[in-house]
Amino acid sequence: MKILVIGSGGREHALAWKLAQSPRVKKVYVAPGNGGTATAPRLENLPVTDIERLADFCVTEDIHLTVVGPEAPLAAGVVDHFRMRKLRIFGPTRNAARLESSKAYAKEFMQRHGIPTAQHRTFTDAQAAHEYIDQRACALVVKADGLAAGKGVVVAATPEQAHAAVSDMLERNVYGVQHGETGASVVIEDFLEGEEASFIVLVNGRQVVPLASSQDHKRLRDGDQGPNTGGMGAYSPAPVVTPEVHARVMREIIQPTVQGMAADGHPYTGFLYAGLMIDRQGQARTLEFNCRLGDPETQPILMRLKTDLVQLLDAAIDARLDGIELQWDRRTALAVVMAAPGYPEAPQLGGPIDGIPAPEEDLRVFHAGTRLDAGVLRTAGGRVLAVTALGDSLRMAQARAYAGVHQIRFDGMQFRQDIGWRALRR
Ligand code: AMP
Ligand code: GLY
Repeated sequence: MKILVIGSGGREHALAWKLAQSPRVKKVYVAPGNGGTATAPRLENLPVTDIERLADFCVTEDIHLTVVGPEAPLAAGVVDHFRMRKLRIFGPTRNAARLESSKAYAKEFMQRHGIPTAQHRTFTDAQAAHEYIDQRACALVVKADGLAAGKGVVVAATPEQAHAAVSDMLERNVYGVQHGETGASVVIEDFLEGEEASFIVLVNGRQVVPLASSQDHKRLRDGDQGPNTGGMGAYSPAPVVTPEVHARVMREIIQPTVQGMAADGHPYTGFLYAGLMIDRQGQARTLEFNCRLGDPETQPILMRLKTDLVQLLDAAIDARLDGIELQWDRRTALAVVMAAPGYPEAPQLGGPIDGIPAPEEDLRVFHAGTRLDAGVLRTAGGRVLAVTALGDSLRMAQARAYAGVHQIRFDGMQFRQDIGWRALRR
């Protein structure tokens, strides 16, 4: 059978690699793909992003199923379109994808269904937002409403910073957010203390299967300093998600979300990612929902997944998830992202990349922003590679991943030296 993966990042390379392991799979197309998916065994790039043309391709090539990596095609309604054409696809409809594409919708949804999250208010009027900041007088987080590619979130330690963020977002749209029909709006919420974790599940309607836990590293520099990024590294499992925390998250966050979406008339199908803040008492609150797998969390998660991913997605599409138990490698997996110079503000692209180690059972370099240019591999996106390793302990996975990182060379490469530090500190 043939499979289609939509997207071009490290998450999509990992998805395509894992799908291609299935004995029934002859080829995995990646649209549009990257320099890694261009040359890997049984993968082939498809230089198409238009939804209608992707659907045509699935018909003519008899594609068994399509998996969507990033949020943009989901928010644009790729699942609705494919379903209308009777094509098999795994992901949420456009309406369900609002859990990610609109922070205001997600917050209102959580409030209505009693899902723990930070206290918040949504504003379209700058004056009212400024007044709320003065009234609240605590550390706040200001979020632009709409897809902003991981940017558009300002953690404001002081009221001055919160005021400036409101002006940037409501008065000047400096983050270039794509606004919905109602124009610019911001969510202002209380700052939550604790440790973050990524909790990703597979959903069909009311059926849920949790994936292994993971933890991202959102800031650019060591010690969680510097600007927010799409994610500079991740590992799985995340020790902060103890069995008790896991059970609470399923009961207090995941189940009410899935049931709430169904009750609201937008049954959720696809990967659902809850970004959690977990406090010292083990109480988890939702910072955000994503309607897709995380990047780079997917890379370590799929390195550990032993279950056949095609069988799993087939079961999900056909609503046969009840009773499914996933098999995981007991080892820890850890991914270090290597980014282009100037990332995240203004990545400089086009430089040649050398020294990528050949894949081994416990080490794989997933490509993200790379392209093949007359046989030369070059940087083509802010996040370039995710060097992902398995180890018997987190420390061993970390050592193995960094040994891989140190073989790779490109001009101005940026990476964190401390991926995994929170787990090592415990
Ligand atoms: P988001 O895109 O909403 O996940 O926000 C990006 C990052 O900002 C998160 O990963 C957190 O590190 C931080 N953040 C967002 N909301 C809060 C909050 N209420 N309290 C503390 N940190 C937050
Ligand atoms: N790594 C965070 C995300 O995928 O949104």
